[in-house]
Amino acid sequence: RAEGIVKELERQCSTPISRLREVVDAMAEELRVGLASEAKSNLLKMVISYVDTLPTGDEKGLFYALDLGGTNFRVLRVQLGGKEGRVIDKEFTEVTIPANLMVGTEKELFDYIASELAKFVTSEGKNFYLEPGRQRELGFTFSFPVHQTAIASGTLIKWSKGFSVSEMVGKDVVVALKEAMERQGLDMHVSALVNDTVGTLAGGRYRDEDVMIAVILGTGTNACYVEHADAIPKCQGLLPKSGYMVINTEWGNFWSSHLPVTEFDKALDAESINPGDHIFEKLISGMYLGEIVRRLLLKLAEDAALFGDNIPSRLREPYVLTTPNISAMHQDTSPDLKVVENTLKNVFGISHIPLRTRKLVVELCGIVAVRAARLAGAGIVGILKKLGRDVIGDTGKMRTVVAIDGGLYEHYSFFRQNMQSAVKELLGSEVSETVVLELSSDGSGIGATLLAASNSRYSKKS
Ligand code: BG6
Ligand code: GLC
Repeated sequence: RAEGIVKELERQCSTPISRLREVVDAMAEELRVGLASEAKSNLLKMVISYVDTLPTGDEKGLFYALDLGGTNFRVLRVQLGGKEGRVIDKEFTEVTIPANLMVGTEKELFDYIASELAKFVTSEGKNFYLEPGRQRELGFTFSFPVHQTAIASGTLIKWSKGFSVSEMVGKDVVVALKEAMERQGLDMHVSALVNDTVGTLAGGRYRDEDVMIAVILGTGTNACYVEHADAIPKCQGLLPKSGYMVINTEWGNFWSSHLPVTEFDKALDAESINPGDHIFEKLISGMYLGEIVRRLLLKLAEDAALFGDNIPSRLREPYVLTTPNISAMHQDTSPDLKVVENTLKNVFGISHIPLRTRKLVVELCGIVAVRAARLAGAGIVGILKKLGRDVIGDTGKMRTVVAIDGGLYEHYSFFRQNMQSAVKELLGSEVSETVVLELSSDGSGIGATLLAASNSRYSKKS
């Protein structure tokens, strides 16, 4: 009976190439729609980032960054040495944001962030030289959907990834940060507000000038890319000299009837703190893969007595099973699947699980992770298609680098391999040789300091 249910799930979650092609086309189309106007009904926000010059390597000086929205909150300091020196020195601290602050008040969250920054700055001593009369400058990576109004300001559109801080939607997040810094007595200037995708793109571009797209596959998922200014109808009046603009797609909110959504995904969405939103993210990202598998296991326990007559109570607890758990079980190479056994014991308190059942659990993890990986691959090809880089054009072969950051991509190698092979399948071997998928861990924080440097209030005056 259990095997039958798993077979049926496999069918519902399948992503044959024909289905992926539909997803690619739908993604490319939604990217176009989102660039045309700011209509509320657009699935993709296609946020204009105000980043129209990307790092060149000339950036110089001492800059700071705050990075909020992934598993960890980071404070970073970077000493940039220009073309010759590049990154001379880099230091960071990271902490996990306490769960109560993710759903508390603006003051609680921002006071916490600003106090971590204050601690970092106070502890650095006198080794870090700032010219007299200058304020320290900061890039703020804020990994949530923001309606950007300038390079260093933007209002929160909505929360995602388990954050739901009251009364912040519609507020300028830089103002919130500045007020909290004042309360901490910190004299710093915010020079750039960036999404994590944009930070990753900037960090990637610093190392490799062919980086055109950045993707985050971590707690959440999103992508940004470099768009021709004249392909952005809603950019009227804002005509960057560079001729391009970085667009934060906020693809987590993508939806298409071609997505293989099951009743379990629908239930997860309905019970989430943002029902109806970020459906693509809920099929793909690290925050949700473990939870999808937990729901499937519960179904198998209820309908096919997978774990015997009694259903372990922890199996009913949302989000107890994490994506690192899934990754560990899926990649268990021990002959008797010891990792699976231990994980089910530690997470749910279930013991004496027959090998046959453990195998079924591995299969479930595979079904959920492969679907996620292949959909993420289709998303990337959707952007390549929008840019006309999914084919070899008149100008011949053009190298395109996709910088990718996030724990899901970095630590889950089956996910990574499945995503890479989906991209290859979709592009065909000749085009896929021109597309490089590159891990870019730590890109986002460094990228934020680089953008703070290129938007420094001091360099503008000189
Ligand atoms: C980091 C970025 O490197 O990757 C973060 O600097 C981003 O801003 C993160 O959100 C994604 O990672 P995860 O896996 O912690 O969500
Ligand atoms: C969520 C956020 C988005 C962010 C992504 C990855 O989708 O809405 O802004 O880039 O997570 O962290």
